[in-house]
Amino acid sequence: MRKSIKASVKALSDAEKAMRASQVWASVEKEPRFVSAKYVLLFWSLPDEVDTHAFVEKWHTEKHILLPVVIGDTLEIRSYKGMESMRKGAFDILEPIGEPFLDYPLIDLAIVPGVGFDASGNRLGRGKGYYDRLLPQLQAYKIGVCFPEQYLSAVPTEPWDSKMDKVIFGTIMDNEQVIKLGRLEQILPEELGNRSLDSVFVLTDENTHRLCLGKLSGLGIPASNVICIKAGDDNKDVEALASVWSHLSQHGATRKSLMINLGGGMVTDLGGFAASTFKRGMDYINVPTTLLGTIDAAVGGKTGINFGGLKNEVGVINPSRSVLIDVDFLRTLDKENFLSGFAEMIKHGLISSREVWNHILQFDLDQIDYNALPSLVEESIQVKRDIVRVDPTEKGIRKALNFGHTVGHAFESYAIQQNETKLHGYAVAWGMLAELYLSYKLVGFPKEDFLQAVSLIKEHYGSLYITCKEYDLLYELMTHDKKNEGDGRILFTLLGGIGDIRINTNVEKKDIFEALDFYRDTLGI
Ligand SMILES: NC(=O)c1ccc[n+]([C@@H]2O[C@H](COP(=O)([O-])OP(=O)(O)OC[C@H]3O[C@@H](n4cnc5c(N)ncnc54)[C@H](O)[C@@H]3O)[C@@H](O)[C@H]2O)c1
Repeated sequence: MRKSIKASVKALSDAEKAMRASQVWASVEKEPRFVSAKYVLLFWSLPDEVDTHAFVEKWHTEKHILLPVVIGDTLEIRSYKGMESMRKGAFDILEPIGEPFLDYPLIDLAIVPGVGFDASGNRLGRGKGYYDRLLPQLQAYKIGVCFPEQYLSAVPTEPWDSKMDKVIFGTIMDNEQVIKLGRLEQILPEELGNRSLDSVFVLTDENTHRLCLGKLSGLGIPASNVICIKAGDDNKDVEALASVWSHLSQHGATRKSLMINLGGGMVTDLGGFAASTFKRGMDYINVPTTLLGTIDAAVGGKTGINFGGLKNEVGVINPSRSVLIDVDFLRTLDKENFLSGFAEMIKHGLISSREVWNHILQFDLDQIDYNALPSLVEESIQVKRDIVRVDPTEKGIRKALNFGHTVGHAFESYAIQQNETKLHGYAVAWGMLAELYLSYKLVGFPKEDFLQAVSLIKEHYGSLYITCKEYDLLYELMTHDKKNEGDGRILFTLLGGIGDIRINTNVEKKDIFEALDFYRDTLGI
């Protein structure tokens, strides 16, 4: 079995099931292979709630829908001729019939539902008998359709064995990102091979141009399609954005072009926004090269730029089609940037579960073990992914990901105003100190966990110098936080314990000031 990302099994409401099912079939219908296929073999042992009949009915006037059926010990393929025949289990027999159908030359696409693996690697789902007998021998393009929440505790994010060409997931989220971990030299060509594109552009910053672009050399992307912008969050601005639009425009990019964002969160945020808005939207892929980008910025679809001295003031939520992760990039990252990313991993540990939190506490930041990193990274991405999956547009639970960010963003904006650049993750780490204090004081975050988290941050993250004279300004900056609802209140995401998320918690000014006192006392400012 290849690389997989674990998914927890969740109960879905009927409405969610119906939505998921129609999204799966909508994705199947959009597949170029499906569009061009004339003979589609459908393994119809689908989960009950999926209205396969309606879809088959819709397709059968323009396609030959073929169904494998078991007659005694023999598997045969029957041709579907409309709903009535399906209901009665009576199909017209297609010639040739019987076992020789495996060589049947006309089948150009097979859709195989409900198969995957559990956490121990055992294959699950209905239809696996057919799968075992038929697929290895069938000469057709094969799409596997997964319904992770219902059937699978471990879901392959890519074709789960060599017999499968592509996997489509049932999901609540529209347009869900495919996330792959592996060697970029392998996973990127695979990804590009699945698309019909008229040109490919790459966005880098100066550092990723020098350190990371080499891994794309085998793709033959012309140098004129490589766009390089200045590094650093202070360049995540409207000028850099306009320069990317100009480049795309001058070099003939179209809506069928693809942009690869190769870099940290600055590049994926700006590049994602540029791609989402160029010609009203072209596809893009994120290839994160920093730890922060890998476990956070590249995942989940938020894009944008800083504007008017405010962080991420302008942007859109539009997920990249895929995120391709090669942790080898992280080896050239300096310690500060590593720690910046690790701060978001600390946050993911705090908002998710005791298990993830313990893994964070066990990781030795003084001696980074790059071999231990992939599993930690995978776990951290999964925390974000699970949240984004149920609330892609931040109507509710996605606000959990803002833990530490209400105060953190205020620190970051304040630093920008002082012309003092501070890394995003550091600002979040300091913000978490203040918000852990508020969680402890206001909603019962346990003392022992509180002290443990505070000491982890204190040990590694230094400080941003502020005095009590800055409190009003910081408060004013917090009023701009996007989680607020415009009624003057400042709404925090707090924690009642590890994984116990309390979104939309209104916090009074005096408590915020007390939390800033705690921040200064803890860091000896
Ligand atoms: N969209 C989101 O959901 C989201 C979430 C968190 C943060 N962000 C944004 O992400 C940005 C911060 O991300 P970041 O920390 O990755 O910043 P970054 O992209 O500025 O990268 C940090 C530095 O590392 C360099 N770098 C990149 N890859 C490298 C490599 N492999 N080896 C050596 N150096 C490398 C960069 O050139 C840069 O100098 C901020 O703009 C923040 O607002 C976005």
